[in-house]
Amino acid sequence: MNTLLLQPNEEGFSQAKTNLTLGRVVAIPTETVYGLAANALNPDAVAAIFAAKGRPMDNPLIVHIGDIQDWDYLVTHIPENAKKLAEAYWPGPLTIILPASDKVPKEVTGGLDTVAVRFPANLIAQAIILRSKLPLAAPSANLSGSPSPTNAARVMEDMNGRIAAVMDGGPCDFGVESTVIDMSRTPPRLLRPGGITPEMIEEVIGPIEIDPAVTHALQEGAVAASPGMKYKHYAPKAEIHIVKGTPAAYAEFVNKQKEEGVFALCFEEDSVEIPSITYGKREDPLSQAQQLFDALRQLDEQGAKTVYAACPNSTGVGLAVYNRLLRAAGFRVINTIKVVGLTGPTGAGKTTVANTWRLMGILVIDTDALARQVVEPGSSCLNALVTAFSSEILNEDGSLNRAALANKAFATPEGAATLNAITHPAILALTQQKLEEAADQGHTVAVVDAPLLFEAGFDAICHHVVAVTADRETRLARIMARDNLTEEVAKRRMNAQQPDDFYCRAGVSVIHNDGDQPTLIRNAQQWWTRWWCNK
Ligand code: TXA
Ligand code: MG
Repeated sequence: MNTLLLQPNEEGFSQAKTNLTLGRVVAIPTETVYGLAANALNPDAVAAIFAAKGRPMDNPLIVHIGDIQDWDYLVTHIPENAKKLAEAYWPGPLTIILPASDKVPKEVTGGLDTVAVRFPANLIAQAIILRSKLPLAAPSANLSGSPSPTNAARVMEDMNGRIAAVMDGGPCDFGVESTVIDMSRTPPRLLRPGGITPEMIEEVIGPIEIDPAVTHALQEGAVAASPGMKYKHYAPKAEIHIVKGTPAAYAEFVNKQKEEGVFALCFEEDSVEIPSITYGKREDPLSQAQQLFDALRQLDEQGAKTVYAACPNSTGVGLAVYNRLLRAAGFRVINTIKVVGLTGPTGAGKTTVANTWRLMGILVIDTDALARQVVEPGSSCLNALVTAFSSEILNEDGSLNRAALANKAFATPEGAATLNAITHPAILALTQQKLEEAADQGHTVAVVDAPLLFEAGFDAICHHVVAVTADRETRLARIMARDNLTEEVAKRRMNAQQPDDFYCRAGVSVIHNDGDQPTLIRNAQQWWTRWWCNK
């Protein structure tokens, strides 16, 4: 097939209309990205879109309209809040999902009973829709899985020979796809972030939910609210990793990556000394949105094999940029924050050291608190514990009864192993999430306070580990006094813990605490200062 490149003039518009009326596929510019358009009411024309794009048939298309009236015909009913949103942001980069009318072919909805509708703001798109007098089904105009095209040349790269024509409308204003919101449910749910931010939507209709898949990989076996979420997306050939951290930490990280084929995908201001492609300015998410997809394609052109991408701020419009980059990176995130692990047996003084560092302004993450959080009612961890140990471990209100769990789990070595296998990975994952948030907030270092640091595998995420220890007799006396225990009970508790030499390992700094508290505080302060200067 010979693919025509059309210009937005009389001749071009007329060619576009003729091809669309004949059921052919024409790529059109929109304010977000280019779309592969065809008559939404003609199943064969819609099938031609899927064929050109190589798209899985269960991934539904957005129907583009050129007049708000045309919406009525495509959906069964328009709730008040959906109407308000459309009035506020249409025409514009917002796609609204509602129950589909029987006019919409199943080919468009991928078999779902809802349909996604959008009224684009781009005047060329509007002119094409109005002239053809057709609602146009249009996904982004890339081959399935590739970054969306934001100019006509990029469309041609993927679609030359596969479709009837491409209308050249110049570069897209916004650069990433529209916001998708499901208004067929209460509360409404944001499925894909875009130019219309969650804050802008909530200003008009009040609270909405953000689908967890916007910022996290879909759990194995989970059903995607939007079929598009389950497919690999926006991915260039290179393996991308997002690098979280301050600009200085990012530069320090990438400048060490000297191997052949390694590229930085960074902001204009970054001081990067390895081959790089930029995508906008660090504090300007609009410039990032506009340039991201083209930058991803440039990386392929330059033969990048591994890419370390500077992480955008994920608030406002930045959420759309972060969401696309996260998918392009297959959810691979590297955190540059330096992590000091803090551990030690009971009674040694770990808490005093943690508090000393907190008072020095250092972020300390308390994994005991996170351990309580991961077993809150409704959590997958608590559900797994109930499956393993029965509902006898629950209180009447459905919360975890810790004593009951301890009785059951610690009755046998297998029980304890099962408990750990369920809870440790969840606590570790939550700790990593907290560390990512800390990096986003500009922290360059954090302490992870974990009594079972080695047992739960936290050492793998620590740059350095500090163990606070004390002689057995000293610890025994401290525990008895602190928790008001008899010698027998205190000894039993200590015996359940690791032997004293457990913490003497290569690379572990030991703070031995046989003196008084002021001495321990001084030692903790000194250790930190020395480590910070030498790190
Ligand atoms: O900005 C845009 O929206 C661009 C331009 C061309 O308008 N279009 C676009 O289409 O990005 P596409 O097909 O690449 O992405 C549409 C997304 C997909 O993730 C799809 O799964 C989802 O919207 N979607 C469409 N209909 C849906 C429905 N009924 N329920 C849930 N998700 C739906
Ligand atoms: Mg797409």
